[in-house]
Amino acid sequence: MVLHPMWAQFPQLQKDLQATLTLMEQSIQLKNKDVETAILEMIQAGGKLLRPAYQILFAQFGKQTDHKKTIALAAAIEMLHTATLIHDDIVDESDLRRKQPTIRARFGNSTAVYAGDYLFVTCFKLLADYASSMQSLQMNSKSMEKILDGELGQMEKHYYIEVTIDEYLENISGKTAELFALSCGIGALESGSTTSFAKRTGDIGHNIGMAFQILDDILDYTQTSTAIGKPVLEDVRQGIYSLPLLYALKENPLEIKPLLAKKEQLTLTEAQQVFELVTASSGVQKAKKMAENYTNQALKALEKLPKEPAWAKETLIEITKLILHRTN
Ligand code: IPE
Ligand code: IPE
Ligand code: MG
Ligand code: MG
Repeated sequence: MVLHPMWAQFPQLQKDLQATLTLMEQSIQLKNKDVETAILEMIQAGGKLLRPAYQILFAQFGKQTDHKKTIALAAAIEMLHTATLIHDDIVDESDLRRKQPTIRARFGNSTAVYAGDYLFVTCFKLLADYASSMQSLQMNSKSMEKILDGELGQMEKHYYIEVTIDEYLENISGKTAELFALSCGIGALESGSTTSFAKRTGDIGHNIGMAFQILDDILDYTQTSTAIGKPVLEDVRQGIYSLPLLYALKENPLEIKPLLAKKEQLTLTEAQQVFELVTASSGVQKAKKMAENYTNQALKALEKLPKEPAWAKETLIEITKLILHRTN
């Protein structure tokens, strides 16, 4: 199984991520072979593994160095992430993920629901076996609640043309930034760092996650589906208005609003018209600025981390910068 090429420049971390993937594969054992195959193929399709990467890196600052535990907890977080993607593709009716047909497209919604459920269960099994305190389990379940809150907030506002930038930010804070915050927080806490250090790392994770989702929403307007391995313009077609569009709407409401007025799925042609108006506006540029602000806040806090281990600190800074410039 080949890892995402971005990790080749960080050999120490690359080895740990490889171990994380191997443990994930070994942990998937079901009698139902459809569900098992579906999950294994999804895992092997090559996600970026950003959340376990952050978790492993923040675990390097603690006093405890239980490598097996670090890998197990990293696998648990990636399973949680994978479960949310599988279920997200059902809700979003998406056919493509990681350049492959989604589980729901290939095996149907039932298999996809069970595949996601199994990953949630396996995540908690690993946590129960390896977490050293109830605190991590509490953090984990609270985060799951916030992710759901973000997703529900987004659903409640779909096709709602007056959705504000603050509401958008609140929703992505739940649906995406929370899992980054959890990864960074648990990495610190479970390696023996203090609760206050874990809180600091959680805040860093939040800012990284905000930048990450805004970038993801930008790619929807600047990349092709082939490049990002998932559909583009699906959000706007389904009434989810992300940051580039929200800025464009402020700039050019007269032309854009009527295109969004029908409150049901847009045709490809209509989505293309919205796309053209968004790219003609400064929406993408303004969204980039916002993502940059979140990244800069994260970088400022990363600079203040202890000097040692230097490789972990440098890698954290490097990958946080990379996220802002990613194109897929
Ligand atoms: C996709 O996350 C979901 C979002 C929060 C935008 P990733 O882009 O990290 O997904 P994979 O794991 O690399 O496929
Ligand atoms: C990402 O949802 C967040 C979760 C999966 C909870 P999106 O719908 O924005 O992500 P993509 O674009 O499908 O990866
Ligand atoms: Mg989606
Ligand atoms: Mg979604």
